[in-house]
Amino acid sequence: MIEKLKQHQDDFDALISKVPSLKELKQLRSDFLGKKGCVSLMLNEMRSLPNDQKPLAGKHINAFKQNVTTLIQEKTLLLEKKSDLTSSSSEDFDTTLPGRGSPSGSIHPITQVMDEIITIFFSLGFKVEEGPEIESDYYNFEALNIPKDHPARDMQDTFYIGEDVLRTHTSPVQIHVMENHPPPLRIIAPGKVFRCDSDVSHTPMFHQIEGLMVDKTLSFGDLKGVMNIFLHEIFGQQTKTRFRPSFFPFTCPSAEVDIECVMCSGQGCRVCSKTGWLEILGCGMVDPAVFKFVDYDPEEWSGFAFGLGIERVAMLKYAINDIRLFFENDIRFLKQF
Ligand code: DAH
Repeated sequence: MIEKLKQHQDDFDALISKVPSLKELKQLRSDFLGKKGCVSLMLNEMRSLPNDQKPLAGKHINAFKQNVTTLIQEKTLLLEKKSDLTSSSSEDFDTTLPGRGSPSGSIHPITQVMDEIITIFFSLGFKVEEGPEIESDYYNFEALNIPKDHPARDMQDTFYIGEDVLRTHTSPVQIHVMENHPPPLRIIAPGKVFRCDSDVSHTPMFHQIEGLMVDKTLSFGDLKGVMNIFLHEIFGQQTKTRFRPSFFPFTCPSAEVDIECVMCSGQGCRVCSKTGWLEILGCGMVDPAVFKFVDYDPEEWSGFAFGLGIERVAMLKYAINDIRLFFENDIRFLKQF
């Protein structure tokens, strides 16, 4: 019997060393430890032995069973580990695939144009100022010489918040700055403005840049000079400009400035409605009434102001035909700038 056991042990050792997978190992386990396996058969055989030989035979069979069990456990762990490695390295996981990139953003075209405009005016000695987006009626209208029943209020579709308004233009920053600083001064005020309006060329929120210069002897000639320098820098030195008389309650005289159409070079096209010109900004000499609101002496000080929409400049610079593209956050659009 002991001889037989030894033979079984040798067989088992040979078999387990060659077992290639968990499936075959399971079969080996059933061959040796299963109900009709080798160990069970040996125990049955043991019963027919003379009583005095049973204990020793039982001891050897148990030792054999224990040994087989341990070796199978060890082999199971080994094969499991191996199958984990192979399935993740060669079956499911392709190590040649490129890693997941983290896409980098870009500066929004409106911010780019805004920065460009700020840089130009900075070189002319203008400082950046900011004001609140929620304004009182006084700053948005009254102090800019737009009284309650003035028709100019209808030009701007105002969002009201109780008594206050979302500023409809950046012009109120002029008032804040003059209230807080004595003349002379040179400022620009970039920022968001709000109007209840929406189509291909209007969005309820857009951006403006306001400018204000106050000094002792400023003339309309100074205003023209500064506007021309700015427009030539931003649209190119060849760009023709023209000043048309206009009306704003806070400037007098007032003008609107056109540039030669950037699409057709003045030939006349759909973009410029066949006129060859594009309106680009409003400007004028500060109205003495405005100076009175901020306690500047209009006899001593003169000034000019201007305001323009950033989206309009960006649309003309980059030939964009729908203002809403700026605010849809479509990465395919934004990536082009
Ligand atoms: N605030 C005006 C608007 O939103 C633009 C403007 C025109 C600003 C003339 C000015 C100016 O400072 O002088 O339509």
